Amino acid sequence: MKQRIEELLQEIQELKAQKLQDIEEYRIRLLGKKGAITKLFEDFREVLPEQKRELGQKLNTLKNLASSKLEELKEKVGESILQNGPKNDFTKPGDKFDLGTRHPISVTREEIISIFSKFGYAVAEGPEIEDDWHVFGALNFPPEHPARDMQDTFFISQSDNPVLLRTHTSSVQVRAMERMPLPIRIVCPGRVFRNEAISARAHCIFHQVEGLYIDKNVSFADLKQAVLLFAKEMFGEQTKIRMRPSYFPFTEPSAEVDVSCNICGGKGCNICKGTGWLEIMGCGMVDPNVLEASGIDHKVYSGFAFGMGVERIAMLKWQVKDLRLYFENDVRFLREFETVI
Ligand code: PHE
Repeated sequence: MKQRIEELLQEIQELKAQKLQDIEEYRIRLLGKKGAITKLFEDFREVLPEQKRELGQKLNTLKNLASSKLEELKEKVGESILQNGPKNDFTKPGDKFDLGTRHPISVTREEIISIFSKFGYAVAEGPEIEDDWHVFGALNFPPEHPARDMQDTFFISQSDNPVLLRTHTSSVQVRAMERMPLPIRIVCPGRVFRNEAISARAHCIFHQVEGLYIDKNVSFADLKQAVLLFAKEMFGEQTKIRMRPSYFPFTEPSAEVDVSCNICGGKGCNICKGTGWLEIMGCGMVDPNVLEASGIDHKVYSGFAFGMGVERIAMLKWQVKDLRLYFENDVRFLREFETVI
């Protein structure tokens, strides 16, 4: 027994602990119910009377040493936890809390609006469910125009003046011309609906910002200047524009606007399909028929209008090749804009 006590004394003196769990293990191994020291106390009962005094003292010393060593280890481990970062360090910065970010389409929409508001344009909004008059009739669409076909437009009810989902926000411009005092200078942002097969380049729901300026002596040169300034603000100071003749029932003359490709700088790349130009909007001088339909005297007033797809501008700005990504709300895609926005 004496030898066993010596061995344990030695062992206890050399104990080391990294974590509190180690200390608990030592306690069980030495002082627990089946621990080595507990066992020695049990054996002590069998010891011859003449040895009891000496061994008893030694046993007590052993027990005391074990307890004080365990305390000492506990203190050391506690200190190192404090120094090396305990679980609850209230001085540490808090965990990152994921806030939502704004959708890239909203951001683009706001950017377009803010550019035009610098030029003095107000924002006008109108209903998504419209009648034929505000979407087509007042805009000089002849009755047999293909846009009025079921294949292009979502109709809600058929009558003399059918109810439908607007296919463009030009309907808001009509409502403004009916009600607002002249001169009018507005942009009309909003959701529009077209009965199109969904693909990388087309969707049955998308967003537009259209614009309208009506005053005395508004000319095509004013339109060109407004579009050029917008393009420079949106895509950079070096941006050039070109206008190609086009056709819309509500404008005459009409044009399609291209900007110089912001990726290759006009040299030609796969985004601009080697042409150096990217189409961004339609525009033109408001057709006299349209002014008259809303009760504006076309002999006194003239104006221009333009309209662009927000998704298209966003795709060009961030080089997103598939428009569907904007509608799927996959957070992995949306998170890519956290730093941009
Ligand atoms: N309304 C047209 C469209 O939806 C865009 C446009 C607006 C074109 C104004 C010319 C003038 O495609």
